[in-house]
Amino acid sequence: MRVPRAVGEWSEDPLWARIYPHLVEHPALGAPLWRLGLGTDISRLDAAASEIGDLPAGARVLDVPAGSGIALRGLRPGAGVDLVAADISPRMLERTSAAAERLGVTDQVTTTLADVARLPFPDDSFDLVVSFTGLHVFPDPHAAIEEMVRVLRPGATISGSALFDDDFRGLARRYRLVHAAGRLGQVLGPMCSSAEAATWLAGAGARDVRLEMSGGIGWFRAVKGLR
Ligand SMILES: C[S@@+](CC[C@H](N)C(=O)[O-])C[C@H]1O[C@@H](n2cnc3c(N)ncnc32)[C@H](O)[C@@H]1O
Repeated sequence: MRVPRAVGEWSEDPLWARIYPHLVEHPALGAPLWRLGLGTDISRLDAAASEIGDLPAGARVLDVPAGSGIALRGLRPGAGVDLVAADISPRMLERTSAAAERLGVTDQVTTTLADVARLPFPDDSFDLVVSFTGLHVFPDPHAAIEEMVRVLRPGATISGSALFDDDFRGLARRYRLVHAAGRLGQVLGPMCSSAEAATWLAGAGARDVRLEMSGGIGWFRAVKGLR
């Protein structure tokens, strides 16, 4: 029998996949740890996800990578939104489904096994794309951005967060320790800088690109241009 490693690939349900949602769901523990390690406020995740709750019934949302289903915290039970939760790991999609169950939103969530670099959706098919803590994990963050913008409807928003490989100075150099630990645990990909992400978003056809660094985490937001 194959025993999953405690840390390691996402398909093997790494330890981090269990710790991360726990920190978000228990801010008394998560907030100080997040502040110490990443210099930012963990509650920003909930604030960003709450945008999903502002959408009208029938709106289509893509959450990639769905992971432990953190974005589902933004869904309002009974809101009639159609959220597609995509991830490359079947084990992580099981976690997404469990989160949907806990939150009472299973009727609004469909899970899809997919590689973000080859999304199985037509162009212009979503009213919102969210991607929380994903870009730093993806093997090809540039291809991921191009695909996420491709499937977005013109005039609609892409929003997300990621660890960026920026040129941190002074005390902020401690984020490099977080990156090193992530690489050791095999949960980080090649990563990119916030400037690269902004350039790739614009190159993919997004406008009004905003990218705000908050400690070691960058929050990005852009609107797909009308053709
Ligand atoms: C930090 S975790 C999940 C983040 C998720 N948004 C959450 O908040 O729980 C990163 C996720 O990226 C997924 N992933 C890694 N490479 C991927 C790829 N090429 N396409 C889609 N998902 C991928 C992993 O399986 C993992 O679930």
